[in-house]
Amino acid sequence: MQNFDYMTPTRLIFGKESIVKLPEVMRSLGKRVLLTYGGGSIKKIGLYDRVNELLKDFEIFELPGIQPNPKYDPSVLDGVRMCKENQIDVILAVGGGSVLDCSKAIAAGAKYDGDPWDLITYKVKAQAALPIVDVLTLAATGSEYDCGGVISRTETNDKVGYMDPLLFPVCSILDPVYTFTVSKKQTAAGCADAMNHTIEQYFVADSTLLNDGFCESMLKSLMVNATKCIENPEDYTARAEMMLCCTYGCNGILSLGNSYSGWPCHGIEHALSAYYDITHGEGLAIITPRWMRHILNEKTIDRFVKYGINVFGIDATLPKQEIAEKAIDATYAFFESINIPMHLREVGIDESRIDEMAHHIAVNEGLENAYAPLTEEDIKKILIESL
Ligand code: NZQ
Ligand code: ZN
Repeated sequence: MQNFDYMTPTRLIFGKESIVKLPEVMRSLGKRVLLTYGGGSIKKIGLYDRVNELLKDFEIFELPGIQPNPKYDPSVLDGVRMCKENQIDVILAVGGGSVLDCSKAIAAGAKYDGDPWDLITYKVKAQAALPIVDVLTLAATGSEYDCGGVISRTETNDKVGYMDPLLFPVCSILDPVYTFTVSKKQTAAGCADAMNHTIEQYFVADSTLLNDGFCESMLKSLMVNATKCIENPEDYTARAEMMLCCTYGCNGILSLGNSYSGWPCHGIEHALSAYYDITHGEGLAIITPRWMRHILNEKTIDRFVKYGINVFGIDATLPKQEIAEKAIDATYAFFESINIPMHLREVGIDESRIDEMAHHIAVNEGLENAYAPLTEEDIKKILIESL
């Protein structure tokens, strides 16, 4: 078991009507609020009005229009400028992972005199950040309980993930009711994202019975509950369990003491989103089974056997190779069952830029050090298999 140093300072307020605690949370952080949100879903569900009503004693400035795969220019740059011009005390992100990630980059940029890209690329270490509170409306990324963010720069085809303990939200308000309106497509993508977060922490050289059990439960719960959410979008119990699963996905709690996997599927997917602006969870669902098939070998087979038996209930008396292959097939079949497009061509990606993307990933993602090391040639094969 590896050493670790772990802390998650984020307060979680979970459940129906948990938003009533928003004024109390915000009061301790300041009066001048930058409210960040996306393309308008929060207005459709009445959340925008509710937030404004609850915060009527605060001074609110707004940054709307944050897109999925949030963009450095204009969203991060506009937000940083607004924080500086208006002496913002606290950022309130209302929306999905993209709104939250963008807000994290703004929070750090607001306290830095140079180009915020320096912080995102670790050229400069952030010294301070504005506090962030969020009201989450989409279960997927786990950004509400981690200190990471992912920011895209269209002009350079970069989608860069970065982490800084300064960027843990102070408080995340998680009311599953706000996720009732999430489309079937985004619900499925959110499930695939959280499943992949778990898989990225499960396929490692060195794990524990404890962590394997957490991960196996996460995967089973996500599959059962996402299916229910898609069948009945207003199933509170299913939305609630899915939301909590997603919250656990990315903050490291599932793999304390494990060796590091290198998060290879994320490394590959980030390039797909950077080049083609696709939905993150869909890209992951497409890549994951192809990556699994590619890395299945004598060294990795025992992990696949455990995964197959404990997650999918595959007959443990079968030969190892058969269990592993059935497990990969079952992973693919599950994603297909929730109607995720399972080929890159279906999300608008053809072979024309595969060489370029494989090179970009190999240079930027460090996957030669992953649990199952990937060279540029391996990455290219996985992408071609995914077409
Ligand atoms: O923009 P609006 O109008 O709000 O619509 C959004 C958006 O179109 C919509 N939506 C959100 N809540 C809704 C809703 N529609 C109806 N009802 C609601 N209640 O859903 C669409 C997608 O939203 P987005 O925030 O982009 O989705 P998600 O939460 O999946 O975030 C994806 C981003 O997070 C990054 C991804 O790479 C991607 O950029 N990730 C962040 C991570 C982190 N910080 O830890 C880890 C992840 O691995 C991931 O990379
Ligand atoms: Zn993800």
